[in-house]
Amino acid sequence: MPPLLEVRRLSLETVAHGQKRRLLRDVSFEIETGEIVALVGESGSGKTLTALAIARLLPNNVRQHAGEIRLGGERIDALAEEAMCRIRGKRIGMIFQEPMTSLNPVLTVGFQVEEGMRIHGFPASEVRRRAKEYLAAVRFRDPERIFRSYPHELSGGERQRAMIAAVLAPSPELVIADEPTTALDVTIQKEILEVLRELQSRGTPEDSSGKTSFLFISHDLAVVSEIADRILVLYRGSLVEVGPPEKVLSAPAHPYTKALLDAIPRERLRLPEPPPGDEGEGEENEPEGKCIYFSRCPLADAVCRKEPGLSGLEGRQEHRVKCVKPLLGTGKE
Ligand SMILES: Nc1ncnc2c1ncn2[C@@H]1O[C@H](COP(=O)(O)OP(=O)(O)O)[C@@H](O)[C@H]1O
Ligand SMILES: [Mg+2]
Repeated sequence: MPPLLEVRRLSLETVAHGQKRRLLRDVSFEIETGEIVALVGESGSGKTLTALAIARLLPNNVRQHAGEIRLGGERIDALAEEAMCRIRGKRIGMIFQEPMTSLNPVLTVGFQVEEGMRIHGFPASEVRRRAKEYLAAVRFRDPERIFRSYPHELSGGERQRAMIAAVLAPSPELVIADEPTTALDVTIQKEILEVLRELQSRGTPEDSSGKTSFLFISHDLAVVSEIADRILVLYRGSLVEVGPPEKVLSAPAHPYTKALLDAIPRERLRLPEPPPGDEGEGEENEPEGKCIYFSRCPLADAVCRKEPGLSGLEGRQEHRVKCVKPLLGTGKE
C-alpha cells in the first residue's frame, strides 16, 4: 500500500523582476492513513505554500518547479483543474486560521456544513442528518440552533468548530489544517485540538474504520506537541528535521530545532515571534553546497560551509536530520 500522501522533492519558486526566488526546496515527506503529521517552522518558512501546493491552490506567481505529489499512489500535481476540484473538499479538506474568512457571512452555518456534501454528491437524505451529526461531534450542545445560526452569531472558537464540521462532514481522507488554532486563545485552542483528535481517531460517525489523516501546520511547537504523531521541521523552505515528537522535542538533532525549543518557556512550549522583517531572509540564494542554517547556526564551522547536510534526510530511519554535525545524544537537557 502506498502512503496516503506522498510529497517527493517538492520545489516551489516565484519570479519577481526577472529574478527567480526558490521558496521551497526538495521537500519530501509522506503521511500514512490515520497519521497526524505536523509541519512546524517560524513565519515565512513555507508552511502555507506547502499546503497550497498539495491542494493545488498556489498563488499565480508561485509555481511548482520540481517534484511530485501523490494521493493514494496517484499523482495529483499534474491533474487538470476539473479533476482537482473533485479531490478538493471530498478527498482533501482544508481548515484555515481565520474561520471568519472561510465561512460566508450571509449563509447559515447549516447551509455551509451541508454544502460540501451536496457538491460531492451525498444523497439529499443523508446531508441534513450528517450535518447535525458533525455539529454535535464538534461539541455543540444544541446543533439545531447552531445549524440555523449565521457565522457572526458565533464566537471565534465556535466558528472554527463549525468550520471543522463543514470540512470533515464529507469524510475527506486527508485534512490540511493551517494554523487552525493560532487566532484563538489558549483554552479555546485546547478545545479545538481535542475536537480534532477525537474526530481523527474515531473516523467518521458511520465508518469508524476510515481514519482521517492530518497535515497539521503550526508555528507553535507547544500546540504541535499535543497532537502530532510525527513532526516535520521546516526552515527557509527546507525540511531540516523529521521525527516522532518524543525524539524531536526531547532530543532535537538539528541546531535550529534546538533553538526553537530553547526559546520556548518550559511550561508552554510556545515559539517566539520571528524578528521583524524576517521573511525567511531572502532574495539571495545560498551558494550551492552551504548548509541552509549556516548564517544563524552557533555551531557552524568550515565543514558546514561546504556541506549542505542533505543526505541526513534521506533514508527511512524514523528520526532524520539535515545536519552534518547533529546534536544526537547531546540534545537532552
Ligand atoms: N505569492 C507569493 N509571492 C512571492 N512570495 C511569496 C508568496 N507567498 C509566499 N511567499 C513567500 O514564501 C515564503 C513562505 O511563505 P509561507 O508559506 O506563507 O510561510 P509560512 O506559512 O510558513 O509563514 C515567505 O518568504 C513568503 O514571503
Ligand atoms: Mg502560513
